[in-house]
Amino acid sequence: MSPKEQLDTLLHESRTFSPSESFRQQANVQDARIYESAEQDPEGFWSAQAHELTWFEEFESVCNWDPPHAQWFIGGKLNAAYNCVDRHTLTHRKNKAAIIWEGEPGDNRVLTYDMLRREVDKAAHALRQLGVQKGDRVTIYLPMVPELPISMLACAKIGAIHSVVFGGFSAQALRDRIIDADSKLLITADAGWRRGKIVPLKANADEAVVGTPIEKVIVVERVGAQAAIELQDGRDVRWQDLMASAPTSPFPAEPMDSEDYLFLLYTSGTTGKPKGIAHSTAGYLTGANTSMRTVFDLKDNDIFFCTADIGWITGHTYLVYGPLSAGATVVMYEGSPDFPDRDRYWEIAEKYGATILYTAPTSIRMFMKWGSQYVEQHDLSSLRLLGTVGEPINPEAWMWYHKYIGQERCPIVDTWWQTETGCAMIAPLPGLVTTKPGSATRPVPGIAIDIVDEEGNSVPPGHGGYLVITKPWPSMLRTVWGDDERFRNTYFGKFEGIYLPGDGAHLDEDGYIWILGRIDDVINVSGHRIGTAEVESALVAHPAVAEAAVIGRSHEVKGQAITAFVTLREGVSASDDLIAELKQYVVERIGAMARPEEILFTAELPKTRSGKIMRRLLRDIGEGRVIGDTTTLADPSVVEALKAQYKDQD
Ligand code: PRX
Repeated sequence: MSPKEQLDTLLHESRTFSPSESFRQQANVQDARIYESAEQDPEGFWSAQAHELTWFEEFESVCNWDPPHAQWFIGGKLNAAYNCVDRHTLTHRKNKAAIIWEGEPGDNRVLTYDMLRREVDKAAHALRQLGVQKGDRVTIYLPMVPELPISMLACAKIGAIHSVVFGGFSAQALRDRIIDADSKLLITADAGWRRGKIVPLKANADEAVVGTPIEKVIVVERVGAQAAIELQDGRDVRWQDLMASAPTSPFPAEPMDSEDYLFLLYTSGTTGKPKGIAHSTAGYLTGANTSMRTVFDLKDNDIFFCTADIGWITGHTYLVYGPLSAGATVVMYEGSPDFPDRDRYWEIAEKYGATILYTAPTSIRMFMKWGSQYVEQHDLSSLRLLGTVGEPINPEAWMWYHKYIGQERCPIVDTWWQTETGCAMIAPLPGLVTTKPGSATRPVPGIAIDIVDEEGNSVPPGHGGYLVITKPWPSMLRTVWGDDERFRNTYFGKFEGIYLPGDGAHLDEDGYIWILGRIDDVINVSGHRIGTAEVESALVAHPAVAEAAVIGRSHEVKGQAITAFVTLREGVSASDDLIAELKQYVVERIGAMARPEEILFTAELPKTRSGKIMRRLLRDIGEGRVIGDTTTLADPSVVEALKAQYKDQD
């Protein structure tokens, strides 16, 4: 379906789902006046939310907004790890499961809050002994093992800033992120498990750290002998050895200023260089914690199963900081949803009695494709609430989720947000808001959203425009690490004092928000954000390539897939082998998620007379659409040639 057809279908979506009386009655938020009161007094609202955290020193004022820089909870002191772990050990939650971890091969581990505290404290002692101090950056490149949240929390306890790099990233991508963050220490693993195969991490880490500031590498042994790794004397230390010899005394939580950075997380933008999104301690944690109680309606007996990888923001906020700060039990799964069979998520959900499930539309579309029989083998009656995130959910996927996973009983919260926003911004409160399949509904309390035209004026319902956030919020990014100018330009350069997320949206007649997807050169492949420029720079680094232009093309399961148009250097001839080689080249430079689905060789790329590549035309060609205005093209025949070629390819 073309975007226009998709939009038309969405506009005609008339199915609505109101919360059931029984859900409504037990919901954390039952009074709709929360929206109004938060709008009238956002500082009062957020101050009350911040008081759900434990503070070492009370903050003096709530917000200072000096666009584009916001400070929240000024003068306060707290520690994120203390809030996520220690404080619960002083309550009835001491022996409650904090993390239920399931390894792909079927091994598992349960960490109660008290056990988690001991692990985090040992790891904090170990990091301190290796010289990690408050404010230092620590890069973490791990598979989905318990040592990942333990490492993050150990950093937080010391006051070091963690930078988690998704385990699927290549050595080169890891290296770029280490250098940008200027990390002295790396925590990695020998390897991980994926679909029963060993995924090497240490080998990538070895390649990545050469010539970087990294002095020490901690290696978690996950796979063991089969991974066959070597430790470099003086540089590498085994996690297990460190933990065995670490002091068992409590590690005192470092009192952090509200505005001290908690972590960096790199994400793609419109240039080839990823941005280190910097999140603060108090504001981020307040946002994450609030949404657990409001959007996810969290109760003490919930079992929260979030399928995201901690290498992305969803895992940071909804596997670590949100649920743990709220004292929840989270289910963390290491591997692939189809190993050993396609019912693995449902098996896990049944086994641990998951009550809330949070996953991505791309996964739901895959489950639809596999068929409901995998779901029906399991008892999912423990589920009471479902969530989705990462990309627009098509109404049919929403309906399938509702019918087969939610068994027409569970409300669905479609949550729109970003790495930069820290926590869910647009989402229904499940006890209050009637949902429509495909719409993230309305902003959460305390968040001010608008949809505007080129001049920044609000657009009427039914008209597409730029989604914007008009007021600061606690968990907003504070800057782009090392590049405040880029922070200013990217997010506040178009409309002064107004945050621009980079998504298009429109309102319907009922005031519901419908997200239309990215409006910049960012592609969303299976919920992973990939900059076209990153893939292009990887391609042009190959000696055979002269120029490359990358676009996203609609894909049934992935949402979008990468199509690359490539011109070759003189004397290089096109071949299937070269296509395979170039795809692999991109994987090595970025990671498997950036592998182009298709590569098309072309003699020329369509360019304007000033030499700018006309991506719009390429996107039109990719989607098989009627080509729009070509009057600015330097050479119109290029388009005809490309169209003909694209047809042949199909
Ligand atoms: O385009 C939006 C899309 O994902 C982008 C943010 O990507 P990332 O920073 O990787 O964070 C993903 C997880 C929070 C957004 O700019 N997006 C995310 N959630 C939704 C969405 N698009 C539509 N509906 C959503 N629920």
